[in-house]
Amino acid sequence: MTLPNSIDAVQADLAATGYVCGRALATVVFLSLKLGRPLFLEGEAGVGKTEIAKALSAALGRRLIRLQCYEGLDAGSAVYEWNFPAQMIAIRTAEAGGGADRTALQKELFGPDYLVERPLLQAMRPDEAGAPILLIDELDRTDEPFEAFLLEALSDFQVTIPELGTIKAPEPPIVILTSNRTREVHDALKRRCLYHWVDYPGFERELEILHARAPELPETLSREIIAFVQGLRTEDIFKKPGVAETIDWAKCLLALDVVDLSPEVISDTLGAILKYQDDIARIQGSEAKRILDDAKASIEAA
Ligand SMILES: Nc1ncnc2c1ncn2[C@@H]1O[C@H](COP(=O)(O)OP(=O)(O)O)[C@@H](O)[C@H]1O
Ligand SMILES: [Mg+2]
Repeated sequence: MTLPNSIDAVQADLAATGYVCGRALATVVFLSLKLGRPLFLEGEAGVGKTEIAKALSAALGRRLIRLQCYEGLDAGSAVYEWNFPAQMIAIRTAEAGGGADRTALQKELFGPDYLVERPLLQAMRPDEAGAPILLIDELDRTDEPFEAFLLEALSDFQVTIPELGTIKAPEPPIVILTSNRTREVHDALKRRCLYHWVDYPGFERELEILHARAPELPETLSREIIAFVQGLRTEDIFKKPGVAETIDWAKCLLALDVVDLSPEVISDTLGAILKYQDDIARIQGSEAKRILDDAKASIEAA
């Protein structure tokens, strides 16, 4: 599928997959596609950063390749590795068969059959549908050496494998990087990218997201849920609920056939939105009632 030719088209294409995209985010997505620049998305957990790569992949019909970052991730696990166990078996088999041609065997062992392609290399392979989407998720979990390595990889999209030669992407992948900002990502990497801070959505947009993700939910309850969660985010708690938690909670309430929020229902289901015992202990009871009263009042006033 061809790339969207306007910001409106980006919004419409994403909406068709159930992703609600604000104007500012749609603009950087459009520019990133148009200019072929990587897109760097930063924001709290659960605000829809990873989801946008999935939605874009669905909307454009492009393959999604995900590199999940973690502490200690190295180039080997990100680009390619040799299939060591299979190489060992091949050597044993050749030995058992006797009279193995050493040079031929060595060449074969370090050929395509024994190469394990990891996400960065996969993303450089041509695809009939067009360049794939490369999602480099939760970059803040890796360390600086890996970031420096990534900076290289993102600048030329080619990999040199000593035994095989250089592999270059015929068309660079569409790159989306995300960070939950548990640490600052280096300026040099950010400079290569277009940047967008993904914030918690406002009332109307979060309601729209809930409509898209849980259409069965009664309207009054939807509004109460959003107003309550939005109120909760202004409280002094350790981990604020993301959009993911809003949706989870809504599905829990739906499963319990709740039609109207009450302090009791909230207390019983708080574990769907708050994931730290200290936060739950703080909000449960009179605090929950106060936030709920404020939420209901704000809906009435609107
Ligand atoms: N704008 C949005 N439109 C539709 N669904 C959304 C949106 N933002 C978040 N979500 C929902 O929230 C969930 C969590 O989002 P995710 O992308 O995993 O968060 P992050 O990567 O920012 O931690 C997704 O599975 C999706 O269902
Ligand atoms: Mg994520």
